[in-house]
Amino acid sequence: MLEGKIAIITGASRGIGLEVAKLFVKEGAKVIGTYNHNEKNIDGIEFYKVDITNREEVKKFVDNVINKYKKVDILVNNAGITSDSLTKKMNDDNFDKVINTNLTGTYNITKLVGPIMQDNHGGSIINISSIVGIYGNIGQINYAASKSGIIGMTHTWAKEFALKDGNVRVNAVAPGYTMTEMLETVPEELLNKFKDMTLLKRLAEPKDIANAVLFLASDNASYITDEVLNVNGGMKL
Ligand SMILES: NC(=O)c1ccc[n+]([C@@H]2O[C@H](COP(=O)([O-])OP(=O)(O)OC[C@H]3O[C@@H](n4cnc5c(N)ncnc54)[C@H](O)[C@@H]3O)[C@@H](O)[C@H]2O)c1
Repeated sequence: MLEGKIAIITGASRGIGLEVAKLFVKEGAKVIGTYNHNEKNIDGIEFYKVDITNREEVKKFVDNVINKYKKVDILVNNAGITSDSLTKKMNDDNFDKVINTNLTGTYNITKLVGPIMQDNHGGSIINISSIVGIYGNIGQINYAASKSGIIGMTHTWAKEFALKDGNVRVNAVAPGYTMTEMLETVPEELLNKFKDMTLLKRLAEPKDIANAVLFLASDNASYITDEVLNVNGGMKL
């Protein structure tokens, strides 16, 4: 499905990002993955250490990719963190850290890659939002703001990067609760409650999300842009 495509996936060292990266490799893409802490060595994935909050590192990384491959066809903005607390108890540094990583980090790389795709007259950008960005959630003001903000950026970039025959599609995927290391700090009781709140009575596996990302990245979705695809088993918060 992705033969000949050059794909960048941020936060590809584990969880959803790693699953997307492996699926893209299987589908024939040249996959360039970034990581921040968890170095990985996986066949077919070219890894770079890039802190998405560091604009200099991001610029150097994008320059390297363009020097080597001359283009980017797919960008998956997946890197993200949580740091949960009720608003009245929120540590301000933790508020800033989550916004800087999830929202500003997505901006930092897309600001560079989006116009390159536009000049090339083609590309697909998939931003990983969250069910929490759609409904909000108790104890996640920083995360909810970042993930709602990503939806706003998706709608804006879909319009901007389509200008001048840009032909760049920009969509978001909003996963429900997905079994990755990100959920390790969530008590089991709460996870069971979330499971019951889905219509399908299960939490997502990373491959449920990766399959949706693959669809949006591929030419099968060539007339889909400016959309938010909910992949949450029918859950509402
Ligand atoms: N797991 C869930 O329930 C769930 C639900 C909805 C949305 N999401 C979103 O999906 C994405 C992936 O989440 P996951 O569950 O796989 O989490 P994860 O913690 O397993 O992986 C997060 C990835 O982001 C990378 N990352 C974090 N900070 C970074 C930084 N400063 N620079 C570069 N990379 C950085 C990490 O290295 C890691 O590879 C995130 O954006 C998350 O918000 C997850």
